[in-house]
Amino acid sequence: MKKVLSLLTVMIMTAAMLVGCGSDASANTIKFGTNAEFPPFEFVTTNGVIGEFDGIDMAIAKEIGTQIGKEAVIENMEFDSLLIALQNGQIDAAIAGMTITEERKESVDFSNPYYTATQVMIVKKDSTIAKAGDMADKKIVVIQGYTGETCVQDMGYQYEAFKKGTEAILELSNGKCDVVVIDSATAQKYVKDNPDLKIVEDSDAFEAEEYAIAVKKGNTELLNQINASIDKMLADGTISELAAKYTEAE
Ligand code: ARG
Repeated sequence: MKKVLSLLTVMIMTAAMLVGCGSDASANTIKFGTNAEFPPFEFVTTNGVIGEFDGIDMAIAKEIGTQIGKEAVIENMEFDSLLIALQNGQIDAAIAGMTITEERKESVDFSNPYYTATQVMIVKKDSTIAKAGDMADKKIVVIQGYTGETCVQDMGYQYEAFKKGTEAILELSNGKCDVVVIDSATAQKYVKDNPDLKIVEDSDAFEAEEYAIAVKKGNTELLNQINASIDKMLADGTISELAAKYTEAE
């Protein structure tokens, strides 16, 4: 009986230790969800700022971690899954060049904005598309779940949605579509890598968008910490330096 009891005690203690370890580890980390298919904000590389992840957002995430005394870890997933992952507690925050929208605000809370962008059109260099209205009878490609998809939808045009920006660009380079609608900084990166393509802007058709970090609705403690960190990085020039570094680099 004594033996059984002491064995039980050992087992219970071990279990308690394991549980203890688990919560200790998560107390010292902040888990950011992203979709690392969006240069210069997040992409996968051999030696990134957080493991294999690199980009403006990844550097911001790392710095937020440092400022709140936690190690930033990245969970890479589909862009469409980020809001659900926040809601079910799989991640603490989503940092993914995510535009603040009224619809998203219904399911998550957004930090202060840290970057301003707009949708642009990427076309072949010899394209006649000069404004959004010219897309009317063209083959349009967007990325699934991005604000660019909503824009084209609202314009009432038919389109095809791809999972990744790189797939959309390949489709365009191969002449299988006429235009890709995507965020400006990412478009610049793609055009830099593909000299046969150019960017067409239309500020009348595409409004300015603000990127922010999303947290679970009601997580004001974390939101306040993130906001303090963002405000500091905006004020001391960290974010504009990062933006310059990652847009000039590759
Ligand atoms: N700004 C756009 C949006 O909020 C695109 C963001 C895509 N981000 C990414 N990490 N794949 O929908």
